[in-house]
Amino acid sequence: MQINDKIVKKIKKDFPIFENNPGLIYLDNAATSQKPLQVIDSITSFYKKENANIHRGFYKLSENATKRYEDSRLIIEKFINAEHGEVIFTKNTTESINLLSYCITPLIKEGRNEILLTEMEHHSNLVPWQEFAKRHNFKIKFIKIKEDFNLDYDDANKEIGEKTALISMVHVSNSLGIVNDVKKLVEIGKRSGAITIVDAAQSVSHMKIDVKEIGCDFLAFSGHKMLAPFGIGVLYGKKELLEKMIPFNFGGDMIKSVSYENATYNDLPMKFEAGTQNIAGVIGLAEAIKYLEYIGMENIKRWEKELLVYSVNKIRNIKGIKLYLSNVDLNSSIFSFNLNNAHPHDVVTLLDEDGIAIRGGHHCCMPLMNKLGISGTCRISFSFYNNFEDIDKLINSLNKINQIFNR
Ligand code: ALA
Repeated sequence: MQINDKIVKKIKKDFPIFENNPGLIYLDNAATSQKPLQVIDSITSFYKKENANIHRGFYKLSENATKRYEDSRLIIEKFINAEHGEVIFTKNTTESINLLSYCITPLIKEGRNEILLTEMEHHSNLVPWQEFAKRHNFKIKFIKIKEDFNLDYDDANKEIGEKTALISMVHVSNSLGIVNDVKKLVEIGKRSGAITIVDAAQSVSHMKIDVKEIGCDFLAFSGHKMLAPFGIGVLYGKKELLEKMIPFNFGGDMIKSVSYENATYNDLPMKFEAGTQNIAGVIGLAEAIKYLEYIGMENIKRWEKELLVYSVNKIRNIKGIKLYLSNVDLNSSIFSFNLNNAHPHDVVTLLDEDGIAIRGGHHCCMPLMNKLGISGTCRISFSFYNNFEDIDKLINSLNKINQIFNR
């Protein structure tokens, strides 16, 4: 099934939000995706028919819930080509990165005290490392972005060295939509013996992610941006590294044995999953992956690129628009712009009057916005359930708004 305008109309029927909000043009998919009925049903069905806690009961209902949870893990592991035990469930990308910032110290090589990030990180891949740096007296360095908003890979080569403990990088920038060559950055990191971490929050539901192909040590993503419910996220980590790390949370399920004085820890992945987990969230995430695979990741990537190229070509013609676009390629499902004389919040509010939902502001990238000398941008972010009609409505509305600010 090749996605096209007609197919999208059919796909939209799987997403009850559109029926319940007639006329809604949803272009804020980078903030969160909408959820298909298949995912919603899998969660309600679990609560209605299968609800029990996992790994604990020796009765059928609990055993079945455990099976559903662990079978879901297998689906998620396969989706990113991880080995069994390498997928840890967290709350979201932010929690996955925070987990690393607390548990990674046993992996850091002697004498290394620098962290390398990019200038386009989301606060969630910056603030945890700032706190880490304060706790451990480390220094943070940044790979610069160039005039065309792409990363400067020569700078990455310059900044990385024998002092670099780890390099943590965003795959697709949530604010500008730039797709970073994470494979190349991982190679650069590995050459100097640094730990490599990828924030895949904005890529995992828009292109095929293969952790072995990327070669990274860790990779983090959130369920809610990929059709799944809120409150479920993933930390992928190489087994041999996760094994050397200290757990993040301590308590039930993550132990093998406990005495009044001490405890031994469980095997992977349970060592990192203390307490009752978001069982329905995990089941919903597996269902979301089944849905993405049914549409096809290549199909999704191709269609979203078509949407991006179509909209950028149209939006360019609006006088007074400044696009924050790479001139190298238009590969992602996100782009940002500003309208002369208009604050992004005003543009968002006026678009909302026409039923169009986009995000405006700093997108949790305040340092990047400061570097660009702006307070924020208007951001369009697509999903495979958007179509050309959505974009035509957006352009019409923007033309109207432009009349207000730039007569
Ligand atoms: N990180 C999400 C975004 O970029 C919330 O909108």
